Amino acid sequence: MEFKGILGNIGNTPLAKVDLVQNSTILAKLEYLNPGGSVKDRSALFMIEEAERKGFLQPGGTIIDASSGNHGIAVAMIGRIKGYKTIITVSKKISLEKLKTIQAYGAEVVVCDPTDFIEDPKSYHSVAVEIQKNTPNSFMPNQYFNVWNAEAHYRSLGPEIWRQTEGKITHFFAGAGTCGTISGTGKFLKEQNPNIKVIAIDSNTSFRATNGNPKPYQVEGMGMDFETPVLIKEVLDDIIEVTDQDAIAMLKKLANQKGLLVGPSSGAVLHAAQTYLKNIKGALAVGICGDSGRAYLSKNFYTEISDNQAQIIKKEETAKLNI
Ligand SMILES: Cc1ncc(COP(=O)(O)O)c(C=O)c1O
Repeated sequence: MEFKGILGNIGNTPLAKVDLVQNSTILAKLEYLNPGGSVKDRSALFMIEEAERKGFLQPGGTIIDASSGNHGIAVAMIGRIKGYKTIITVSKKISLEKLKTIQAYGAEVVVCDPTDFIEDPKSYHSVAVEIQKNTPNSFMPNQYFNVWNAEAHYRSLGPEIWRQTEGKITHFFAGAGTCGTISGTGKFLKEQNPNIKVIAIDSNTSFRATNGNPKPYQVEGMGMDFETPVLIKEVLDDIIEVTDQDAIAMLKKLANQKGLLVGPSSGAVLHAAQTYLKNIKGALAVGICGDSGRAYLSKNFYTEISDNQAQIIKKEETAKLNI
């Protein structure tokens, strides 16, 4: 009998039916059951191994990247298993749980001030680029601009969903951040059946949604805030903008009533799927639940708390991030 290690256990996550609409079926793809706790295990593994295959990453090297959290967790976990040093830059918007998780996997974390634009020299992406330039024998997966990101999902998540639904999927919903998940998976699914609807979920105050006048939003990971070659525009049938309020209301409902403790982007995705499918009959939709609610418990999305309590917690969190 042959047993797989952690890396061999990335992927093959379950699909769970969630009753949110009357006349169609919504399946939640439980990506938080990946070993590192998110959909990003797939793309980080592919990008790191592609770099090894192409000789960009050498033994004893360092992997550096910017992340809203989950990619950083995946890079830290995979990088350390393979014996590389890992440095992850994050924005202060990150949940404390994700920050601590990256550190627990043995990575160095650099916390940067939030910026409105990724091109800002102070943004967590720009800081990662700078660190990489100054670190010998290093590699930056560059998830925000590297087309390997979408390629990973084209090879992994797309075929898996097609197989699990026995080719019967009619709609695919995923949050768009780097756009790797929606583009790669969407491309694979469209190639199998061009009638499958591929629907990206964006924040209603992202750079794209506001025509260049973004406002901060609470949902982590998703939000179309910059132009990137990772996005394959032709595969998108629709982009649905979701407010923080709707994403968080759905989060609470999923946790309190449906047994699904998922992160904010999953709330946005399932809110969009429910709204989109309300008047559609016989659809078989798959929505990506990118990470777990356990990564956001300190943000108190799931329980009602007083404004006063919320302010105290916020102050404590900010103080911890400044350590
Ligand atoms: C929880 C979660 N959902 C959705 C996304 C967006 O996925 P992608 O970057 O592939 O567009 C991310 C990205 O970090 C994420 O962490």
